[in-house]
Amino acid sequence: MAENKDVNSSNEQDVKRETLTTRQGHPVLDNQNIRTIGDRGPATLENYHFIEKISHFDREEVPERVVHARGTGAFGYFETYGKVGDEPVEKYTRAKVFSGAGKKTPLMVRFSTVAGAKDSPETDRDPRGFAVKMYTEDGNWDLVGNNLKIFFIRDAMKFPDMIHAFKADPASNVPNPARMFDFVSRSPEATHMITFLFSPWGIPATYRHMQGSGVNTYKWVNEKGEAVLVKYHWEPKQGIRNLTTDEARTIQAKTVGHATQDLYEAIERGEYPEWELYVQIMEDDYHQELDFDPLDDTKLWPEDKFPWLPVGKMVLDRNPVDYHAEIEQAAFGTGVLVDGMDFSDDKMLQGRTFSYSDTQRYRVGANYLQLPVNAPKAPVRTNQHRGQMDTRDPKESGENPSINYEPSMVGGYQEEGKGSRKPHQPTYNAAAMSAPIDRPNNYGQAGHTYRSFEDWERDELIKNLSDALAICDKRIQDAMVHHFTQADEEYGRRVKEGIEKVMKEMQEAKTDNQVPGRESGKSKYGQGT
Ligand code: HEM
Repeated sequence: MAENKDVNSSNEQDVKRETLTTRQGHPVLDNQNIRTIGDRGPATLENYHFIEKISHFDREEVPERVVHARGTGAFGYFETYGKVGDEPVEKYTRAKVFSGAGKKTPLMVRFSTVAGAKDSPETDRDPRGFAVKMYTEDGNWDLVGNNLKIFFIRDAMKFPDMIHAFKADPASNVPNPARMFDFVSRSPEATHMITFLFSPWGIPATYRHMQGSGVNTYKWVNEKGEAVLVKYHWEPKQGIRNLTTDEARTIQAKTVGHATQDLYEAIERGEYPEWELYVQIMEDDYHQELDFDPLDDTKLWPEDKFPWLPVGKMVLDRNPVDYHAEIEQAAFGTGVLVDGMDFSDDKMLQGRTFSYSDTQRYRVGANYLQLPVNAPKAPVRTNQHRGQMDTRDPKESGENPSINYEPSMVGGYQEEGKGSRKPHQPTYNAAAMSAPIDRPNNYGQAGHTYRSFEDWERDELIKNLSDALAICDKRIQDAMVHHFTQADEEYGRRVKEGIEKVMKEMQEAKTDNQVPGRESGKSKYGQGT
């Protein structure tokens, strides 16, 4: 565990200190004064230490993530139960991470918000990212999920537009919910997600007290190459806690990083947060008996038909030692699966799978997988070498470093060969097309979710939606009320009445645009007297 050093408490005499050096290993004589002609300057250009120091500082940040920029993380392990519910896990998957009850696999987790920038408030109403990287014996497995179990859209084609609408106005750089609702009002599939997001479930109290979900549908593959559809869910053993808007504002008035602080301090105290991992399993089929498409990520799989089956638990017991190295540079992706897992035909999942490693090659660099946080603990024997910042140790270049290609008669690495594992080979017989799915059912589950909320959650939902929609164009308000009414007549009516009430109050409270603060700067030099 990282030692929590208090910079204020050290007594200079007691501390044993080593000499500061440059990155070239030269001891630094003077780290306070640049080299100048005389004591007032001008500065000299050959001042290697200063130029190295300032130019490295100028490059200290990597681009923030295009989404999920604000985050924090921790390390720990996953412990498998060796079973899925009461059945041996091998019936469904040959993934070794789940076999052998009690086996532990090291992991790291990054929690995040979505739309805000790197230092934005952690009290924002936003889904929370829940990305887990497991360093399994068969290589890395990433489960890149969110706290909420569904998503706004079901087709990856819409993602860039959705994020543009959710982020700040590109002209003013001011966040504006009217842009988000403009997009959402033309995307009825988002009604279910909006119902969760504007309820208290849209502001989890802390990262320790929220659920996680893979959201998209994956496959599990067994020894025979047979596959089932699977959804993953993380359930916090600490319980689930959400905030009202007022509670979030009170926290935000004091700090914008309460969730990072909460996680870090809990782990420092030795209160290690835990989550249980559940799966829902479904036969890989169209399931015409359902009123929705099982691959549609705007839908929940009903628990009574597809029960949550426990498969293991996760414990977080170590904080990062260096946030930038271990969390900011961490790179997760939905393509990072191990043997015994596969992709489903979920269109979002397939679009996501291209996007993650693509952005990471830009954000972190071509060799992002060599960084300790991203490198697997399983052996890596690859011919994908070189590029900027290739930090491989030449001593570990394999038995025959001249053979950096495959196949070869004389040496180098060799593919495992198809005979070793039975592949899962789905078959297709359909025309290629750009088309929506045939069972959109955009409103059914949204209405069900509305009715399943507790009273206080429903009241918060109506209030939050009314406040946000009151500033929107009338056409957007009408479209949103229409969507909510389709979901549940009472839901639509209450939002409509709520919008009218807030607009009336806004009208009554209307004053001239006042600049906040008190007048200052009476002195001639602007500093007061
Ligand atoms: C981060 C793309 C949908 C969860 C990201 C990043 C991209 C991206 C480009 C930044 C990655 C990085 O810089 O390392 C997409 C696309 C989507 C999509 C194209 C839809 C087609 C989703 C969905 C979920 C999700 C449905 C929830 C299951 C996350 C999380 C992160 C993330 C948790 C942050 C990972 C981290 O902590 O580094 N996404 N995303 N995304 N996305 Fe998505």
